[in-house]
Amino acid sequence: MDLSTTYLGFELTNPLIPGAGPLADDLDTVRRLEDAGAAAIVMRSLFEEQIVFEEAATFALTEVHGYSHGEAGSYFPSPDEFALGPDEYLEQVRRIKEVVGVPVMTSLNGVTPGGWLRYARLMEEAGADALELNVYTLATDAAEDARTVEDRTIDMVREVRSAIRIPLAVKLSPFYTSFANFAHRLDQAEPSGLVLFNRFWQPGIDVEELEVRRELHLSDSSELPLRLRWLAILSGNVHATLAVTGGVHTVLDVVQSVMAGAHAVQMVSALLHHGPAHLAVLRRELEQWLEEHEYQSLREMRGSMSMRTCPDPQAYERANYMLMLQSWRPA
Ligand SMILES: Cc1cc2nc3c(=O)[nH]c(=O)nc-3n(C[C@H](O)[C@H](O)[C@H](O)COP(=O)(O)O)c2cc1C
Repeated sequence: MDLSTTYLGFELTNPLIPGAGPLADDLDTVRRLEDAGAAAIVMRSLFEEQIVFEEAATFALTEVHGYSHGEAGSYFPSPDEFALGPDEYLEQVRRIKEVVGVPVMTSLNGVTPGGWLRYARLMEEAGADALELNVYTLATDAAEDARTVEDRTIDMVREVRSAIRIPLAVKLSPFYTSFANFAHRLDQAEPSGLVLFNRFWQPGIDVEELEVRRELHLSDSSELPLRLRWLAILSGNVHATLAVTGGVHTVLDVVQSVMAGAHAVQMVSALLHHGPAHLAVLRRELEQWLEEHEYQSLREMRGSMSMRTCPDPQAYERANYMLMLQSWRPA
């Protein structure tokens, strides 16, 4: 079965990719992922704050405590709490490139254009085949309107785009006032890919200790439908290739993502939970599923349930929401 796909301009043997996270910290795990059929490797992010902090420490050691980035404070990790420092990160890119043949994608994570983005170029020089830019931002400033937040992200994408020659993917959250419009404006900055969607950390409150709880729960498949809707809406309407991230665990999650329009399917929680071999299982099950449903290739299926091509395009819109609420009956 032909599982090949094109993502970020790469001809990949199949759509399954371990997403950004701790999986690529360990070279043995990276090898096991490639053996299991990973079509590419995405490394964890290097953070804007980490880079800026390190530079502040280098250039003005005595001023470090005065550093006041938007989210700085007691929650800001100290440099030794990051898994990889900036130099170690670049070294890890070189090491991974030595042990795998598939494309290696690095990740930058930040919110403002500026000097820290020179790491995009450094990652390219270290051997990265592509870069994922994670623009995780929380718009908490009531004085800042949506356009200003969006423009800042687009400026950042343009800055990185012009600094590197390797393909650039932008990893987005769904929390924009008019996501379709934003995605189209972003697409004009010519990223090679969009990754839908960042999974936001959500706070809980420890009512005894009066603290905000910091717990990272792995995802499950219930997080996928939000991604499916927007993949389906963007598929065929943007130049960028599309990757899904968030809630892909089973072969049916993979099939749905591709039908909605994903060129690549990223997974983190599922691989952390089951180990790298899960990738091989999904790949086999995907082949089997396509054969049983008489597809000749994965490409034949891709986008078949996008809003452009599915039999009922309104299915992704308000009409279906009304229908669902009105037709609900107790079991
Ligand atoms: C432990 C952990 C670390 C992560 N680190 C990063 C990161 O450094 N950069 C990033 O863009 N996403 C990071 N993510 C988010 C994942 O790449 C992914 O988008 C998210 O977990 C949703 O996919 P999943 O449902 O397959 O887990 C991390 C996720 C986990 C669980």
